[in-house]
Amino acid sequence: MADEPLILGIETSCDETGVGIVRGHTLLADALASSVEEHARFGGVVPEVASRAHLEAIVPTMDRALREAGVTIADIDAIAVTSGPGLAGALLVGVAAAKGYAVAAEKPVYGVNHLAAHVAVDTLEHGPLPEPAIALLVSGGHSSLLRVDDLARQVTPLGSTIDDAAGEAFDKVARLLGLPFPGGPFIDREARAGDPAAIAFPRGLTAPKDLAGHRYDFSFSGLKTAVARWVEARQRAGEAVPVADVAASFQEAVCDVLVGKALDACRSSGIDTLVIGGGVAANSRLRAMAKHRAAKHGVRVRTPRPKLCTDNGAMVAALGSHLVAAGVAPSRLDLPADSAMPLTVVSV
Ligand code: KG4
Ligand code: ZN
Repeated sequence: MADEPLILGIETSCDETGVGIVRGHTLLADALASSVEEHARFGGVVPEVASRAHLEAIVPTMDRALREAGVTIADIDAIAVTSGPGLAGALLVGVAAAKGYAVAAEKPVYGVNHLAAHVAVDTLEHGPLPEPAIALLVSGGHSSLLRVDDLARQVTPLGSTIDDAAGEAFDKVARLLGLPFPGGPFIDREARAGDPAAIAFPRGLTAPKDLAGHRYDFSFSGLKTAVARWVEARQRAGEAVPVADVAASFQEAVCDVLVGKALDACRSSGIDTLVIGGGVAANSRLRAMAKHRAAKHGVRVRTPRPKLCTDNGAMVAALGSHLVAAGVAPSRLDLPADSAMPLTVVSV
């Protein structure tokens, strides 16, 4: 609606420079510049390279988003920016830019949590999030289960990974299989031609003895090692590695654990909305499995479309818009870039 606030969001926590513009829950622009190709040959994101790429991309991406939305900076009601968590130098570029634009155009600025933004982006697609909800947040840097009582103020961690993040496991296994970086989308594609039951890979922290202390925690490092051992044994025996079967079986193990624990959290808390966000939420098997298994328990699954799952500016704008609507006060102009921002802090 035309009278809803117009919010601009800036994202620079990792390798994507994103500027999104929303009005209420309506997405007007989602401009993105990625430095992913500059990192590919290193097999992971190189922080200094990412920071420099953000510096070069931030102003053109800002201009592109404003053009796409057909508005000027003067029309914007508030600027939201990822304050953390993420790469310190990369975050600084976005935070500094947000402050600069906020001062120049006399706009309030909201420093927001990247992880809460991964949840909030779903509102652009499916409208307001029913609260309480359970959120499964799975990205390259984080894997957590959260209880969301109030997306603007009250997010409670239930558990998280004790070693690798889910996306990190996808990236490492892809590398092992000779697939490009970032590996998640390539595993997803390869797996379509494979048999998910070909190899019985371990499901971390699901044994009865683990559930006592780690009911909602994840562990993917044992799975990654199991895949490495399996592939090495094949190679030592001089046999070809069935990439599609390994990809499908690995993916099945990850999704099985993520969905199992998320639905367990829904069941035990009596909450019937599960929202899945973060880059790994783009995974086709995770989306299908979650919907299928949740339906049997009367749980509704919400996942943003794949392009909104990976990092972008629209998610930051979506959270900013939610904060403005909820009457949350803006941040101070000296708001920090906090690489270790805790999950419980939605805005600073
Ligand atoms: O949320 P995101 O864009 O950045 C972080 O905040 O980390 O997540 C990136 C991660 C990468 O590890 C990437 O491999 C993974 O998300 N990813 C996927 C898929 N698309 C991206 N993992 C599995 N299947 C996918 N289709
Ligand atoms: Zn992310």
